[in-house]
Amino acid sequence: MATVIHDFHPQAFRRSLDLVVRERYEAPNLSEKEKEMPVNYKVADLKLADAGRLRIDWAESRMPVLMALREKGKKEQPLKGMRVAGCLHVTKETAVLIKTLVAAGAEVSWSGCNPLSTNDEVSAALAAEGTSIYAWHGLSVEEFYWCIERTLDFKPTLTLDDGADLIFNVHSKHPELAKTVIGGTEETTTGVHRLRAMAADGKLLYPVFAVNDSETKWDFDNVYGTGQSSLDGVLRATSILIAGKTVVVGGFGHCGRGVAERARGLGASVVATEIKPTQALKALLEGHRVLPMDQAAALGDVFVTATGMKDVLVGRHFDVMKDGAIICNTGHYDCEINLKDLEARTKSKRTIRPNNEEYTLKDGRRIYVLAQGRLVNLAAAEGHPSEVMDMSFSNQYLALCRLARDGKNLENKVYELPKELDQELALLKLGTMGVNIDKLTAEQIAYASDYSAGT
Ligand SMILES: NC(=O)c1ccc[n+]([C@@H]2O[C@H](COP(=O)([O-])OP(=O)(O)OC[C@H]3O[C@@H](n4cnc5c(N)ncnc54)[C@H](O)[C@@H]3O)[C@@H](O)[C@H]2O)c1
Repeated sequence: MATVIHDFHPQAFRRSLDLVVRERYEAPNLSEKEKEMPVNYKVADLKLADAGRLRIDWAESRMPVLMALREKGKKEQPLKGMRVAGCLHVTKETAVLIKTLVAAGAEVSWSGCNPLSTNDEVSAALAAEGTSIYAWHGLSVEEFYWCIERTLDFKPTLTLDDGADLIFNVHSKHPELAKTVIGGTEETTTGVHRLRAMAADGKLLYPVFAVNDSETKWDFDNVYGTGQSSLDGVLRATSILIAGKTVVVGGFGHCGRGVAERARGLGASVVATEIKPTQALKALLEGHRVLPMDQAAALGDVFVTATGMKDVLVGRHFDVMKDGAIICNTGHYDCEINLKDLEARTKSKRTIRPNNEEYTLKDGRRIYVLAQGRLVNLAAAEGHPSEVMDMSFSNQYLALCRLARDGKNLENKVYELPKELDQELALLKLGTMGVNIDKLTAEQIAYASDYSAGT
């Protein structure tokens, strides 16, 4: 077994790294001595690196805004001297972000933020290029936290989270590390909820940017990204015809709305469940049926939970589901579907297709669980398309640059990125798509602030 650096010295490590990794990559049959050499990564198989590089090249060709920021960052080096620990799904798009951080002068150490979302080809390509990365598909919960610990070995100055597991680890297990962390960023809704709760409790030890809450992230990534990729995950795991099916979407927030729209686009009739009256009303006025889950459970052919809340589907729902019902989740954690309740009703279980477990219940009905109740779009498909991650990760990159510049002057609070940045990023994105929009004339600008102008 290769050993892993625990006592981490970034500069010395950097010098030896390229050689070690290149040798390992080009000569995978390691000698005993080589096996004992310290390395700064743990991935499934370095031999997958070439395939991973192709995936990353493809993603780069679809992420023009982030690539433009990379070119600028190469010259200006806004992250020089920064050590970024990241805990975020290891996808081809994340690799584009990591390479952009490195180009801007940062040292990076990375782990995945979900046991099933790492793309092994991409993690191999990153390791082979010298990125410190601890991520492989299908790791256990213990290994998941071990990977996070390894990224903390290099004593980060910035942290980047998707779900707040890394930052929570710093706060709960290594509060001494927080003294040298300038700030952090958070990618997803559930992570922002956790961090706001920590801040409200006075427990947050450094400032954090809620990247999720930027308009160019939340209103695009969560809606169109989750919408398309969750259906992609359902299709890869089942290959069913969506047309004519009843798709029950748990939660009509950003993600739920996206899933509902894409399911309808493929010919499904959608039932939305909600706990918030305004969201339920929006679903209704969009033309979907709205029901409590207790009623929807008996109607659905496919269930997709997207709430960020636990126990959206529980035992009493499984008791009334149709034979053949398909259930999956696209919320951040795997607590939305109560699999313990399902297990308790199950007499046998088998994997019928990749990412698709058939549970045969004691009464003979079969229920199909996709991706073990974890994020179906990342575990059974490839996560969000690159085009939408272009904006999310441009926000991530700019938030880290801002923290590197100003973080020391910020309070230990959860901040949002400035609203003007959304307009700038959206304009850039439109430009890359060849779309022009109108500008206000001088007269219109004057009109906008003229309260005396009426009928
Ligand atoms: N799959 C992905 O790649 C992906 C991408 C972005 C966000 N997420 C995750 O998806 C989840 C939802 O994110 P969002 O941005 O849509 O949040 P959101 O706050 O916009 O929407 C969540 C909705 O769920 C509703 N809800 C809460 N509890 C419910 C319950 N028990 N039953 C029915 N509805 C309920 C809320 O009222 C809200 O309208 C979060 O966990 C987030 O981190 C996943």
